[in-house]
Amino acid sequence: MGVDMGELRGTHVPVLLERCLELLAPALRLPGAVHVDFTLGLGGHAEAVLERFPEVTLVGLDRDTEALTHSRHRLAKFGDRAKLVHAVYDELPRVLDELDLAEFHSGLFDLGVSSLQLDEADRGFAYAQDAPLDMRMDQTSGITAEQVVNEYEPGELVRILRTYGEEKFAQRIVSSIVRERQKGRITSTAVLSELVKTSIPAAARRTGGNPAKRTFQALRIEVNGELATLEAAMPAALDALAVKGRLVVMSYQSLEDRIVKRALTARTRSTGPVDLPVELPGTGPTLRLLTRGSEPPSEQEVADNPRAASVKLRAVERLDRNDGTPGAARERPRLSTTHGGRGRLRPGEREEGEGRA
Ligand SMILES: C[S@@+](CC[C@H](N)C(=O)[O-])C[C@H]1O[C@@H](n2cnc3c(N)ncnc32)[C@H](O)[C@@H]1O
Repeated sequence: MGVDMGELRGTHVPVLLERCLELLAPALRLPGAVHVDFTLGLGGHAEAVLERFPEVTLVGLDRDTEALTHSRHRLAKFGDRAKLVHAVYDELPRVLDELDLAEFHSGLFDLGVSSLQLDEADRGFAYAQDAPLDMRMDQTSGITAEQVVNEYEPGELVRILRTYGEEKFAQRIVSSIVRERQKGRITSTAVLSELVKTSIPAAARRTGGNPAKRTFQALRIEVNGELATLEAAMPAALDALAVKGRLVVMSYQSLEDRIVKRALTARTRSTGPVDLPVELPGTGPTLRLLTRGSEPPSEQEVADNPRAASVKLRAVERLDRNDGTPGAARERPRLSTTHGGRGRLRPGEREEGEGRA
């Protein structure tokens, strides 16, 4: 593995740890609480949950076997309270089923790559170090960045760089890649970084950090099917979240945050007829927002932990199912039925759950 455990723990500060714990605390105190860490990584957040909430059981998922090895070692002191599983996070229903759990009470998604993946050069995530073009979070399966770069049709590569990397110079970069791969296979991160650098106009090279950053992000998203997996994982997680349970999601780029926002806000709205004064059974919102939009990190957090710079945090609480049981119809006190639009607030009214929890 090549990296010392202590060294890793020393360099990795869990992002927005205190804020995550503050938001999740009421759910972590529910009787028999199960906390799912969907992106266990090096286990920083998970360790804090297990230490501060001694009754909680952890289910920790990661698709990266090296991350799991590190976390297993780090969390061994908690014995049976820590159940770590090699899984992609949209596989939660299967994992819960295998552990004989019907639901979970507290959950955390800390999306993106781990310090382990970035710091170990041979994983190929870092554009600043030379390594084989791999970028798989799960080294045991799937296609590598080398296959994407060398085998995808040029048009498909342009689409990936534009959509997943928001790269303005996608066409120029792909033309260089195609010319290079006619000479021989592109196999290293250094060759790819240099190709990107020389493809973009000199003026653009002087601004906005390393020019390869956007191309590497795009390839990583494609290699790991990150957006499709997140699209599938959000509803699966919300379906299994217990009433009064809470979920925190931290994303680091706008494409992820958009998926998260859409999945969460869809369930904060009524699905019943707009002009009824009461909520019909089974049509009420099933989530309450705990954050106003997405929360950015504080200046202090970024100063302490540069990896938090781009984080966007969203949090929700699961409401009563309102699932059609007798007497479930209830008043809709906060929604306007006269100004049109489902879920629209009356003038001067604050959205339920706005502000810090
Ligand atoms: C930013 S790190 C998490 C760090 C962690 N919170 C900590 O305190 O150490 C993200 C982790 O999520 C994992 N991951 C990313 N996408 C995943 C997916 N679709 N399924 C499971 N794990 C995933 C990565 O392998 C990585 O280890």
